[in-house]
Amino acid sequence: MTLENSRKTDRFYITTPIYYVNDVPHIGHAYTTIAADILARYNRMKGKKVFFLTGTDEHGQKVEKAAGERGMSPKEHSDDMVSNFRTLWKKLNISNDAFIRTTDSEHVKTVQGIIQMLWDAGEIEKRQYSGWYCTPDERFWTEKEIIEGNCPDCGRAVEQIQEENYFFLMSKYQDRLIKHIEDNPGFILPHTRRNEVLGFLRNNELSDLCISRPKARLSWGVPIPFDEDFVTYVWFDALLNYFSATRYLVPDAEKAGLGDFWWPADHHLVGKDILTTHAVYWTTMLMALKFPLPENIFAHGWWTVEGRKMSKSLGNVVAPGDMVDEYGVDAFRYFIFREVPFGLDGDFSEEALARRINTDLANDIGNLLSRTLKMIEKYRDGRVPEPVAEKDRAGLELKIKSWFDPENEHCIAKSFDLHLARLDYHHALQEVWKIISEANEYIASSEPWKEKDEDILSNILYTLAEVLRLLAIYIYPFMPDTALAIWKHLGIEDDISSIDLNGSGKWGVLKVGSPVQKGEALFPRIDINKKFSKNQPEKKIKADIKKVEKKEVEMETSGDNLITIGDFAKVQLKVGKIMAVERVAKSDKLLKLQINTGEDRQIVAGIGKAYTPEDLIGKSVVVVTNLKPAKLMGVESNGMLLAATDSEGVLSVLTPEKDIKSGALIR
Ligand code: MSP
Repeated sequence: MTLENSRKTDRFYITTPIYYVNDVPHIGHAYTTIAADILARYNRMKGKKVFFLTGTDEHGQKVEKAAGERGMSPKEHSDDMVSNFRTLWKKLNISNDAFIRTTDSEHVKTVQGIIQMLWDAGEIEKRQYSGWYCTPDERFWTEKEIIEGNCPDCGRAVEQIQEENYFFLMSKYQDRLIKHIEDNPGFILPHTRRNEVLGFLRNNELSDLCISRPKARLSWGVPIPFDEDFVTYVWFDALLNYFSATRYLVPDAEKAGLGDFWWPADHHLVGKDILTTHAVYWTTMLMALKFPLPENIFAHGWWTVEGRKMSKSLGNVVAPGDMVDEYGVDAFRYFIFREVPFGLDGDFSEEALARRINTDLANDIGNLLSRTLKMIEKYRDGRVPEPVAEKDRAGLELKIKSWFDPENEHCIAKSFDLHLARLDYHHALQEVWKIISEANEYIASSEPWKEKDEDILSNILYTLAEVLRLLAIYIYPFMPDTALAIWKHLGIEDDISSIDLNGSGKWGVLKVGSPVQKGEALFPRIDINKKFSKNQPEKKIKADIKKVEKKEVEMETSGDNLITIGDFAKVQLKVGKIMAVERVAKSDKLLKLQINTGEDRQIVAGIGKAYTPEDLIGKSVVVVTNLKPAKLMGVESNGMLLAATDSEGVLSVLTPEKDIKSGALIR
């Protein structure tokens, strides 16, 4: 099979990673998917044929295990779980053209065809493989990773296993890969990530990639066609989704050319954690297949939540569906792309989202629209007035119009396009908001309410309505519902999702006489103080302190305290290192500690009378890590730090006797 290798400018193919079907979707999944959606919508508007692909990764140990726990087959389990993603994408207004599942029979067939091709071409070899295996976790570890003969994850003993496996001869592509990345500066973005990949490739020897798993150990995978005892490694199967989709999920009209029309992708969007699998495994697989390489792989940053890593155990996972229910889909979509440049890590906070809604959405765009509509209703009976060319006062209107003049080097069409071509969503939005604030200033400086010349007043009102119509077009990829609402308010009946930017993006398209409709505010303001009040009333704080103290006394004095070994085994204890400490406001007893127990966690402990924060920083302590999260005086606590108190009231935190790594299990 050969595929044509020429840059295709009339079509646009964009992908998200295929998400593990076991996972409950969170802000990280939503982030990449909305990012792809924005570019897909924008490129459709530019008149390109677009193929936007997302989907789910459904093979592998974890799926098999989770299904077993539910008494289901892996396929039944996947069929059930996949709806978590489908439902969320609907709720987030995702306009994907296809949804691939790695259990689709067509995908499985393609993976088998490809592995056969690579085997026939001598790109795969069968070899002896040896490594440290953790049977309960069902995974291999390297010599460097294991801790004193134990699994670094669960702490149980690992064993040396030798087995045969199939290897893709990846190492021979190392120099070609380096050269391709060097010659194509846009291949991996952002540049910092590209440099990291290059640095890694220049300083390390690439090994060959083990791409099989014996069926005896894992049966839930794509069977290897030339050896019935093996299935493919999950990443080998997963990465091929980008290709197999072009065989059977593309629009009918383009199927004829067997998908060549769509190959290769313009962008593979991924999170920074899976850049290596894409930049190295995927790229070399394509080289071995002699298939054209994608134009770009873009690795975006990760979201933390209020300064901390998002994790199930901390209970701080941001569910996009909840955010949509609370603040609306467009506010959420806007916020995550305005707040942080794509490519950098970002910190999510609901309060920051609410503040952006008030400033950028309710104030800036919301006010511009409502003031314009109000004035058209008041001064022109609710109909868009006809502008009178000769009364156009050069200066004010001209300046606004120039943003939409294709002759202007800095016009929005050009700058917006340039930013989005680099996936710089953040600056693309800034360009739009620059015009919004200029239009608001234009209202303030032209003072239409004082204008005595009716022609000039008509010009001002037309200019404002036309600016809003055009701004809606640029807002559309980010906030499709809002864009549509703006058009409806302006009396425009066309469907904004099927417009052509070239025609509709010009100045002066708004029909004179269109009936405007005021309706409801685009974004109602949020009462930040009420919603995020941090100052709890004094009384509540005192009651909280009493509750904490009472609980401690109860725990010390309760009678029957014999437990079984099984009871004790339920408690997970780990060594943690104290990274930061501060006092909880209004309490002399409670300290808020940031502790690393292999992962970062915050713990509130009642040791503030015995220790100052400075005493504790850098200490290794013993932590109960599987305690349900609780709030003490409004501060979240995830776990408990162990301390002893004697009859004289001396309190001492427990520390390990030797220097030992954070995260070490205590048993
Ligand atoms: N199945 C693989 C991908 C195979 S693609 C051929 C996989 N799946 S995943 O469900 O774990 O994927 C997750 C995506 O979510 C990754 O791109 C990852 O970077 C992203 N994120 C997971 N947590 C994240 C944040 N906290 N913030 C931003 N993105 C995050 O990997």
